[in-house]
Amino acid sequence: MPTLAVIGSQWGDEGKGKITDYLAEDADLVVRFQGGANAGHTIKVGNEVIALHLLPSGIIREGVLSVIGNGLVVDLEQLKNELAMLRKTGRSGEMLRISDRANVVLPYHRLLDGAEERARGNKGVGTTGRGIGPCYADKVARAGIRMGDLLDEVYLWERLDTIFPQKERLAQSLGIKLDLEKASLLRTLLEYGNLYRPYITDTSVLVNRAIQEGKKVMFEGAQGTMLDIDHGTYPYVTSSNCTAAGICNGAGVPPSAVEEVIGVTKAYTTRVGAGPFVTELHDAMGLHLQNVGGEFGTTTGRPRRCGWLDMVVVRHAIRLSGMTSLAVTKLDVLSDLPTLKVCVAYEIDGQIVEDFPASVFRLARAKPIYEELEGWTAASSKPADIIRKGYAALPKNMRKYLDFITTSSGIPIGIVSFGKGREETIDLRRRTWSR
Ligand code: IMP
Repeated sequence: MPTLAVIGSQWGDEGKGKITDYLAEDADLVVRFQGGANAGHTIKVGNEVIALHLLPSGIIREGVLSVIGNGLVVDLEQLKNELAMLRKTGRSGEMLRISDRANVVLPYHRLLDGAEERARGNKGVGTTGRGIGPCYADKVARAGIRMGDLLDEVYLWERLDTIFPQKERLAQSLGIKLDLEKASLLRTLLEYGNLYRPYITDTSVLVNRAIQEGKKVMFEGAQGTMLDIDHGTYPYVTSSNCTAAGICNGAGVPPSAVEEVIGVTKAYTTRVGAGPFVTELHDAMGLHLQNVGGEFGTTTGRPRRCGWLDMVVVRHAIRLSGMTSLAVTKLDVLSDLPTLKVCVAYEIDGQIVEDFPASVFRLARAKPIYEELEGWTAASSKPADIIRKGYAALPKNMRKYLDFITTSSGIPIGIVSFGKGREETIDLRRRTWSR
């Protein structure tokens, strides 16, 4: 049963897009299971750079079936724009399938996202403003519209009849105007229903059948473990389960369906939006990582906060998702620094803490405990040499850094990424997945 999951082990933006694209070469199906257009997966193919938000990364590859699972929230307009962008690159997008059970992001979800953020004042989450939280809230409150509903006018009207007045009252209480007629919303949704009709299906049946037939199925995580609604830095999180556990609900597969779990780990740490970040650097080093790493959000363009690698975070992620190996990305960004620091534990109120605490209030008092490692120079790591010779051609201190991560995490490093391109990747895994 060759199945594989790619999960972010930090706060998102770990380079999952690149790793998923790299692994998708061998996949028959790539399945997204949570999140929505808040994600930003950047993929570099030759000189082409493609930024995806909602579409699974597999859509870039010819012949790979790309699935938007039931656990996603689908922004209909964003999906249309992304498909149009894809067609401009010469790709058809015809291999897309969308779950009939995925919830739809409605125009008022974006308005409510903004209004709720404003109402939180200086305690804002710093959301992407894509309506994600309000849409998931409606799903759980049984007030959502699902993709399959767009194909049935009578039922859709009935649903809007129940939901629409609730939303009008909520908007009023938040002091915003929906500027939306129920009848026009119905028309728009039916038009989108027609547009996406060829893609909408029961994707749980599709994915399970593929697994039974021995096809190679990859589950593509979005965001990262620390943004998980249950296990992240609550309330500074997104509204879905970003760990491997989210795969079962969000793709409609049993727990036994997930064989291998690759945790994508950036060689340092970044986060966008508000919330605690113990190893954050507020100095020139933080700015250096931001500039060299091009740490600006793919979805919102916001600068990402930067800091040293935090193994308390990574170990938390490994435990939650049962990660079997790590893919360490953006190692090149750390080149030419004399010393590197890696956080191995926190000190909180005089106590050494090795497990990630639940309370952001407690986390605000956490001080990182660092181990220092020697850096390496860019000159000692010529990409062409590394591509030719592999791991042994990596600079000695870079290998030491990777060894340190392996020992501290307790799991092997399977993939090393030292640049944006597909070829700037070393694959050290047992070849369980590749053909
Ligand atoms: P939301 O998902 O838009 O509700 O935003 C909630 C939090 O998750 C905010 O701090 C966002 O910046 C963060 N976030 C959401 N999606 C991503 C992502 O793909 N990468 C990094 N951060 C994200």
